[in-house]
Amino acid sequence: MHGVAVSTPPAYAPFHGKQGFPKTQNRSSLYLKHSRKKCFKTLRPNVITAQLGLEPPPFPLDALEPHMSRQTLEFHWGKHHRAYVDNLNKQIAGTELDGLPLEDIVIATYNKGDFLPSFNNAAQAWNHDFFWQSMKPNGGGTPSRDLLELIKRDFGSYEAFLNEFKTAAATQFGSGWAWLVYKANRLNVGNSVNPRPSEEDNKLMVVKTPNAINPLVLDYLPLLTIDVWEHAYYLDYQNRRPDFISVFMEKLVSWEAVSSRLESAKSEAAERAREEQRRHLEVDEDAENDQAVEMYLDSESDAPEAE
Ligand SMILES: [Fe+2]
Repeated sequence: MHGVAVSTPPAYAPFHGKQGFPKTQNRSSLYLKHSRKKCFKTLRPNVITAQLGLEPPPFPLDALEPHMSRQTLEFHWGKHHRAYVDNLNKQIAGTELDGLPLEDIVIATYNKGDFLPSFNNAAQAWNHDFFWQSMKPNGGGTPSRDLLELIKRDFGSYEAFLNEFKTAAATQFGSGWAWLVYKANRLNVGNSVNPRPSEEDNKLMVVKTPNAINPLVLDYLPLLTIDVWEHAYYLDYQNRRPDFISVFMEKLVSWEAVSSRLESAKSEAAERAREEQRRHLEVDEDAENDQAVEMYLDSESDAPEAE
């Protein structure tokens, strides 16, 4: 049974009230096409707990055959993904994380690398949603023209990108993920990692992450992912991870999903830039006001003393 509310506060509380939570509500809607369904239970008067739901993949479980079998989806989504969601619901029931969007739970529990107990289940729940939405029946092919232009700008060629992505996925030691991401500086970092702004912002990058780590906590905007945990491919490809990766890119990837996410990422990057500009203007205005006060004081000191 899950969703049991507890009356005592959580043992871990690295932040204080809502101030500690990142402002990422908009991004939840940007990167998860289907909002996660929640059911609310009143276990006793004045105690309500929200449960995150398990969303199905956006295609029938046999729709990716023969490249990804129904049996793999039944285990991978029906058992592994379900376990992450169920375990997370148990862990956060009645805590201050209960009822938050999944993406906010991921960033809050990452806690700048000092994971809270529920991080792995939260991140794995989010990663799998993102993975299912990265694929479609009869996928593969080539990216849209705009996306392709950006890939050529940042990797040199589509072949160079493909090679880098496949290499990242194949060389991730043990369990983990490979990602295509959009790098844009974030102003409100919350509990994520915040690399310094640089001229290299606003570009595509390939990254690989171990276990449950994902780009959200590394301050990147994710566009595409492949799950390279063994449970993702073992039933269909046994130990031939490179074969699974090649088939994923040639037959399963949804470039439409990647393009849609790229548009959202560009919008967010533009909003960040506007926010930064506003912040600079406020600093300049403060500096001007300070200077005006200083001049006023100087002119006062030059005036003849009153008798
Ligand atoms: Fe998985």
